[in-house]
Amino acid sequence: MATSARADVNTLYLDLIKRCLTRYRFDSPYRPLAPRPGTLKASLYKPVRRLLASFGLELVRQAPFNPAAREQGLDWPAAAETMVGLRRLDNVQRCVKDVLQRRVPGDFIETGVWRGGTVIFMRALLKLHGDTDRVVWAADSFQGLPKPSGAYPADAGDRHWEYSTDLAVSVEQVKANFARYDMLDDQVRFLVGWFSETLPAAPIERLALLRLDGDMYESTIDALRALYPKLSVGGYAIIDDYGALPNCRRAVDDYRRQHDISEPIQAIDGSGVYWQRER
Ligand SMILES: C[S@@+](CC[C@H](N)C(=O)[O-])C[C@H]1O[C@@H](n2cnc3c(N)ncnc32)[C@H](O)[C@@H]1O
Repeated sequence: MATSARADVNTLYLDLIKRCLTRYRFDSPYRPLAPRPGTLKASLYKPVRRLLASFGLELVRQAPFNPAAREQGLDWPAAAETMVGLRRLDNVQRCVKDVLQRRVPGDFIETGVWRGGTVIFMRALLKLHGDTDRVVWAADSFQGLPKPSGAYPADAGDRHWEYSTDLAVSVEQVKANFARYDMLDDQVRFLVGWFSETLPAAPIERLALLRLDGDMYESTIDALRALYPKLSVGGYAIIDDYGALPNCRRAVDDYRRQHDISEPIQAIDGSGVYWQRER
């Protein structure tokens, strides 16, 4: 009796924290006005936005909450700490539970954390399960995506780097978000900089969870090359954008082909996928 009552409390806590991190059903009904980078509207609006900001003002538009979009991580939330949506947080929860139950060795990492919501959730799961050994690694430039370097033709013309207002979140802000949930402690470590520089040198021995959310070919392949060899057998590789961003998908397919990875890819929702390492 006591055990099942306890299980319910855990489920309720996790449901609530997922709703907080995604602001499911309680996000702001307004979004900052942000014309698509590269358009005439965007270049005309840029000086206006700067001027307004100097007065502490921002133009917003009405954006009614769309539950289906927030479940599947299809919108960019105004205030939520994560944009991955409820279904992909459910997937993180299942993978974490499984590696903890089966004692698969290794830390957890997300490459591409934005406001930090998914890594905050990983830390909360460790706390809930009483794990005091594993570290949650948060890797990001904390200044948005890189301009395509030319090294990877697949990224030619990629414009994610232009979304600096939406996608660049400072490490101080992400730490403040962790602190807001009381999750900032020495079981969380930050890798600040471009993946190509930070990941190969990161002092990570082993991973049980490798979650990639860097959107581009370069960001995805750099993370796979540096980190997949450290993923334990029984651990999980999770790719946030496989179904939504062709460059990301191509990087994953190339890496899997080059390294003879044949574990079946499982869909989470229309975008996220994962597989469990078997060998
Ligand atoms: C879509 S957001 C991640 C969303 C996040 N996982 C969440 O829970 O909402 C992509 C993030 O990847 C980071 N990023 C992408 N490519 C990168 C690279 N090559 N090096 C460092 N950071 C990168 C960006 O700064 C951005 O914060």
